[in-house]
Amino acid sequence: MHTATTIADIRTLLATERSHGRPIGFVPTMGALHAGHAALIERSVAECAATVVSVFLNPLQFGAGEDLERYPAAPEADRALCRDLGVNHLFVPTTAEMYPRPLATAVRVEALESVLCGASRRGHFAGVCTVVAKLLNIVQPDALYLGEKDYQQLVILRRMARDLSIPVAVHGCPTVREPDGLALSSRNAYLSPEERAKAVTLSRALFEAADAVRADACDADDVVRRVTGQVAVDFDRIDYVAVVDPDTLQPVRGEVIQARLCAAAYLGSTRLIDNVALDATARLS
Ligand code: PAF
Repeated sequence: MHTATTIADIRTLLATERSHGRPIGFVPTMGALHAGHAALIERSVAECAATVVSVFLNPLQFGAGEDLERYPAAPEADRALCRDLGVNHLFVPTTAEMYPRPLATAVRVEALESVLCGASRRGHFAGVCTVVAKLLNIVQPDALYLGEKDYQQLVILRRMARDLSIPVAVHGCPTVREPDGLALSSRNAYLSPEERAKAVTLSRALFEAADAVRADACDADDVVRRVTGQVAVDFDRIDYVAVVDPDTLQPVRGEVIQARLCAAAYLGSTRLIDNVALDATARLS
């Protein structure tokens, strides 16, 4: 496994891969890799001749008062995991390498960025899109692997690639969960044992809603009300619970047929997000 810290080095390494006709898969990360990242990497390794993983804690996507300063870091464990999974190239740039001067450019997917997480995290998705556009220009992968856990991010980046004609296939990969259902996240490390015990309430409420939609006709507002009530029992604050169109992220009204149920809520100062597909089509067909 090669490790590159500069844009020039990773470009040189990948030019060689391309000259041998080896399709490149890319998994962008902010480090503190867990089994969710491992699943993305494994898929890239299985599908592409060469896999690139980037580890870059992107300051652009953190707002004032968010957790940039305390975001978990585990560089040695990250490197070992990537090596063990068969990653060919690890790209670990510094902030100075990625942003040598104040940026005069931002990439925004305006139609999708101000709802759900974007409503309370102003500027977050512009930060995500800008760094991922930059990474895609550097790596020029054939395939990009992203987790469904960050569902809004996945929808936005897919749209960005399409709108900007970036020649990459965007693959959304299923959320990896703890045995009790909690979605894996680097931020789970912040939870105290008591908070960790309560955290399962979020995925449990979402799964119950998905079961209910599969079994019976359910009104979207009722789903939101029921999930909000369940999550409120254990969580300290709810940011949002929403039933949205899977592509436009706009709220669904009336009976739920196919939609995405998304939620964000706080345990202490830790913000957790999760989402599930709602699908009644099997019952209706
Ligand atoms: O999902 C993440 O870890 C980040 O938002 C990403 C895609 C690596 C961009 O910094």
